[in-house]
Amino acid sequence: MNNSGSAMKHHKKPIISPLRYPGGKAALYPRLRAIVRANDLTSGTYVEPYAGGAGAALGLLVTGQVRRIVINDLDPAIYAFWKAITTESLEIAQMIKSVDLTVLEWSHQKDIYLNGPREDYLSLGFATFFLNRTNRSGVLNGGPIGGMDQSGKYKIDARFNRETLVERLRLIALHASRISVLNTDGMTVIKRYSKRDNTLIYADPPYFEKAGSLYLNSFTDSHHSALASCLNKVSDAKWLLTYDNVPRVAELYSDRRREVFSLNYSAHRVTKANEIMVFSDSLTVV
Ligand SMILES: C[S@@+](CC[C@H](N)C(=O)[O-])C[C@H]1O[C@@H](n2cnc3c(N)ncnc32)[C@H](O)[C@@H]1O
Repeated sequence: MNNSGSAMKHHKKPIISPLRYPGGKAALYPRLRAIVRANDLTSGTYVEPYAGGAGAALGLLVTGQVRRIVINDLDPAIYAFWKAITTESLEIAQMIKSVDLTVLEWSHQKDIYLNGPREDYLSLGFATFFLNRTNRSGVLNGGPIGGMDQSGKYKIDARFNRETLVERLRLIALHASRISVLNTDGMTVIKRYSKRDNTLIYADPPYFEKAGSLYLNSFTDSHHSALASCLNKVSDAKWLLTYDNVPRVAELYSDRRREVFSLNYSAHRVTKANEIMVFSDSLTVV
């Protein structure tokens, strides 16, 4: 597929996700694309059990590297967002075009995000999106860019380019019939999809350190161990996993191949972070 426009400007790392995600993995796109090809999975399904901004998944789908993607997130707000934009993209586009970018509107959207009915995924999904685009670093529980008094250098609309965002939405809507959106525990998704052929699972669970304030972090050490035993049991499936590079990862995945790598971050004003990738035995790693 050869789309033009700003969403596809960076050939190596297409920016398609409408969400800003602290620690987002869109930058892994070239590596994942190489792995998909080396494992002959271009007609297959790519699964993110801890999807968040799903930047890598969308990149792979829209550029035709995989046939289907599965996006799962346990956070009801993140789920509502993905559900809304894959099923009600025209409404969301209209809302993006017309919403006021003011602190008053921010308070209204924050109220929907915190207190609105969880099953109204259009309102909740849009509120999630609105806060993600207007909050500092995209952190959902944070404050608006520029502060409540808008005295900061950058204002609330600094990351809300309506045109670019609608364009990303349109691109996703075009491929929506090949996107499955789920709202369950990541391990349930891993168990289900590890039994299927022609499937690649990329797990990016909440990190051991620093994850706390950035997004829903239901993970304690026992969750990390449970995830390790779940993944280690299905090492004949094709999966990879990324984490912060803490010694516990090498312990939990001592029998698997591992590789340290770096990503650029903005949320903590750290430019490089040491991360680790773990691979299932049956995956061809390139
Ligand atoms: C590290 S982030 C993923 C970042 C993502 N790879 C990206 O590029 O944007 C982890 C995500 O897992 C979700 N999450 C936390 N606990 C979960 C669980 N038990 N099952 C599924 N998702 C979970 C969080 O809501 C968060 O969106």
